[in-house]
Amino acid sequence: MADELRLPIAADVDVVQARQQGREVAANAGFTSGDQTVIAAAISEIARNILMYAKRGEIVLSVVANGDRQGVVVIARDQGPGIRDIARALQDGYSTSGGLGLGLPGAKRLMDEFELTSAVGQGTTVTMKKWRRLG
Ligand SMILES: Nc1ncnc2c1ncn2[C@@H]1O[C@H](COP(=O)(O)OP(=O)(O)OP(=O)(O)O)[C@@H](O)[C@H]1O
Ligand SMILES: [Mg+2]
Repeated sequence: MADELRLPIAADVDVVQARQQGREVAANAGFTSGDQTVIAAAISEIARNILMYAKRGEIVLSVVANGDRQGVVVIARDQGPGIRDIARALQDGYSTSGGLGLGLPGAKRLMDEFELTSAVGQGTTVTMKKWRRLG
């Protein structure tokens, strides 16, 4: 893994920044404009969750190569309250904040790989990837 971009998330402006940086990293990695938008949207949802549920955290963006594929990797970490029931949190419409409950499942659908680990009282980490074929 070459260089990575570390983005602290602690305010609304950071969410906007993370979204824009995600688009830029994806563009530099050769993703189509449509895929850039998709990646930015997924980052935005995960960043919004950090802000809403954990107050602060970070998003790390990087680009990886894997054979004939290149991918954008997004890792979002916080040390907030954690998620008690991960399976439910990943279902459409589940929200503990009166939201639409579409952020996590939406981000999962938008990306090619999506992994959520969380422990109550310790925090949450979301790792997601989007791939494109080289050449
Ligand atoms: N980083 C996090 N820390 C703790 N709980 C989280 C975190 N991210 C998500 N959750 C929990 O998972 C639930 C589902 O998240 P999701 O983003 O899908 O929906 P939402 O944030 O409630 O609504 P929205 O559709 O506006 O995103 C949240 O309501 C919250 O309980
Ligand atoms: Mg959300």
